[in-house]
Amino acid sequence: MSSESEVLNWKYSYFLKNEKNNFNKNDILNILTINDIDDAYKTISKWDNYSPTPLISLNKLSKKLKLNKIFYKDESKRFHLKSFKALGGAYAVEKVTKGNKKITISTATAGNHGRSVAWGSKKLGLQCKIFISEYVSEFRAKVMRSFGADVIRVKGNYDNSLNECIKQSKENDWQIVQDVAWEDYKLVPKLTMAGYSVMMKEISEKINNQKITHVILQAGVGGMAAAMVAGIARYLNYIPKIIIVEPENASCVLESIKNGKIKKITIKKESLMGGMSCDEVSLVPWEILKNSVDYCVSISDDYISKTIKSLANSEFSNEKITGGECSTPGIVSLVGLCNDTQVRKKINLNEDSNVLIFGCEGDADEELYQKLLNS
Ligand SMILES: Cc1ncc(COP(=O)(O)O)c(C=O)c1O
Repeated sequence: MSSESEVLNWKYSYFLKNEKNNFNKNDILNILTINDIDDAYKTISKWDNYSPTPLISLNKLSKKLKLNKIFYKDESKRFHLKSFKALGGAYAVEKVTKGNKKITISTATAGNHGRSVAWGSKKLGLQCKIFISEYVSEFRAKVMRSFGADVIRVKGNYDNSLNECIKQSKENDWQIVQDVAWEDYKLVPKLTMAGYSVMMKEISEKINNQKITHVILQAGVGGMAAAMVAGIARYLNYIPKIIIVEPENASCVLESIKNGKIKKITIKKESLMGGMSCDEVSLVPWEILKNSVDYCVSISDDYISKTIKSLANSEFSNEKITGGECSTPGIVSLVGLCNDTQVRKKINLNEDSNVLIFGCEGDADEELYQKLLNS
């Protein structure tokens, strides 16, 4: 059986409706302002080699799922950094340093954010210190070193690497450029989100008069998802159904939506989708997501390599697509939701639906990508 026909058996893990959904454009744009969003586009679109990433039609998959269209935003082509994260960290570095070459930048990362921060620091001739946990692959560390960053490995998980980053940054007066917000650290994470919102500007220009009915957004700490919601508020004059997808072992947004307040979870097993294996939604994204999200869905790791292969073998579209592990959840969750006839009906997925999904990264971790592709 080809993987294309196999999709008919795929299942999501858990589905939740947000009872507090009440999309309010003004509230959203009070948190990430039109100024923040426009400033990011103005700056980033002037960077060397900037060009919008492709919006690919997954025409074979939409036919299979009996949907009108599936738009796939292909971030594997983003500045040769191979992920949307290139837009966030590097932009924040530029904004916070304001031309001061004496500042040393620091961050903690699961990989792609650090790559962006290292790249942005290199572009501006700044020293850069990157803290990674024991779960970040040596391949990802090597790429960050190739941008001139000092990579420091910390025992334990992401939280441990962040704590060490904060401690050493205080001691040495380094400027932290983090994509996660906490109580008195919100400005920089907002800048990273403003950078990500460039994706929605590009999408709004590519789709012309076609109306997106559903958008599926991957979440780790929620920064990317909330930035896309703000982009929807800024650039679209209608509101699609907004669906958050997370790994089943790291569904911190789903659990927070269920509880009506931020809930830190315990990750029992790290997901292969490393960038999304987060235990707590970040503060600024939460303020945006809590009322704008319609549904949350979680998925297992079981379909990651099948999706990567199908993308690479042009089984979902006319083109061959390089999509890494974090590029798969939009497809996996959409297939799972479509296969559940009751949920499909409840959320209005039908032959008139135009679904937007995000291929957040390419083979950013080449070794893991090859392993999953050939497994
Ligand atoms: C590579 C990668 N890292 C991280 C994330 C999560 O982003 P955030 O932590 O802003 O929610 C994603 C989203 O899918 C991703 O693809």
